[in-house]
Amino acid sequence: MKILVTGGTGYIGSHTVVELQTQGHDVVILDNLSNSDMKVLDRLEAITGVRAVFYNADIRDKKTLDDIFEKEDIDAVIHFAGLKAVGESVQKPLMYYENNIGGTINLLNSMSEHGCKNIIFSSSATVYGTPAFVPITEECPKGTCTNPYGWTKSMIEQILTDTCFADKEWNVVLLRYFNPIGAHESGTIGENPNGIPNNLMPYVTQVAVGRLKELGIFGDDYDTPDGTGVRDYIHVVDLADGHVKALKKLEPGSGLSIYNLGTGQGYSVLDIVRNFEEATGVKIPYVIKERRAGDIAECYADSSKAFRELGWKAKKGIKEMCADSWRWQKNNPNGYAD
Ligand code: NAD
Ligand code: WQD
Repeated sequence: MKILVTGGTGYIGSHTVVELQTQGHDVVILDNLSNSDMKVLDRLEAITGVRAVFYNADIRDKKTLDDIFEKEDIDAVIHFAGLKAVGESVQKPLMYYENNIGGTINLLNSMSEHGCKNIIFSSSATVYGTPAFVPITEECPKGTCTNPYGWTKSMIEQILTDTCFADKEWNVVLLRYFNPIGAHESGTIGENPNGIPNNLMPYVTQVAVGRLKELGIFGDDYDTPDGTGVRDYIHVVDLADGHVKALKKLEPGSGLSIYNLGTGQGYSVLDIVRNFEEATGVKIPYVIKERRAGDIAECYADSSKAFRELGWKAKKGIKEMCADSWRWQKNNPNGYAD
């Protein structure tokens, strides 16, 4: 298939491009490089041997989207493009709603006008809010999000659901990711956050490489085995493979499909520190801090639906996730900057 990957130079997008190309798909990447780097294209080519067609374009620019759909004969879109910093979304909600929701509506209009009605969307476990139960199945009711970023995911899910209901030619897959970490085994592509990382693993790797002094652990008094927050960390390469497997749910008549992509296994913050140290031999100094606003005690997936319907299952364990995150950071202490 010929796939348009929006946000394809970003963290999850770039890993998905590798899986798509190595599994025989044609890839067209669209990204405005607001949170990624052109160098990713060279790194991808070095891994797969194929240079992806690239458009430096913004999903809010309808005219350019139309030009791309006219020029390229796209079968399906995998839609990663979006802003994702939770804290920033609280400070700048309109920027998030405009970019993520406005951009997605533009994209859907352009797709529809050009007869491409197949889309896989990057959603998030954040749509469950404080989950009604764990492990979380897709039947778990969506909850109250704690920040505008989360609401953009929840609202885009609704927009796609309504679009699918109104026009039976649409096939939509909502993939709800749990906590993606790790990197391609080559150590040449990986997560590259701007400024001080918000997420746990990039914070840990930046402590390990000496860019940050120590990890702050946000609370040790949760109702979890060791008091620190429990999450379902998933290797980004497994996540990427989930997208390729999900393409089969874009066959005519499929309609709307929803899948959790996680491992089903919860790890606490202290488990991550311990596993990272064991996998890499690098010590991570930490201090216990106050709880972070909006955090929940535990969140992990029941991903058995993805196994039953897509034949997808996460294969890589926590040690491999830690080792691969570290290889990327060690080889690229400043990310894609020289
Ligand atoms: P990322 O920031 O690395 O990738 C997103 C890419 O989208 C970037 O390359 C950025 O330049 C591009 N982009 C942003 N706005 C754009 C626009 N208007 N037009 C064109 N390109 C634009 O983030 P990621 O971690 O790879 O996440 C990819 C997707 O998955 C996002 O939608 C994110 O919300 C979602 N997601 C991420 C996580 C996570 O923990 N990383 C979890 C759940 C869902
Ligand atoms: C994991 C655990 C923290 C940093 C976020 C988004 C979610 C999704 C994934 C996109 C928690 C603790 C963290 C640190 C810490 N993204 N922690 N010290 O909060 O589960 O999910 O990323 O959709 O929407 O909210 O991930 O990596 O930030 O935190 O102690 O410096 O690590 O409290 O328990 P989270 P995270």
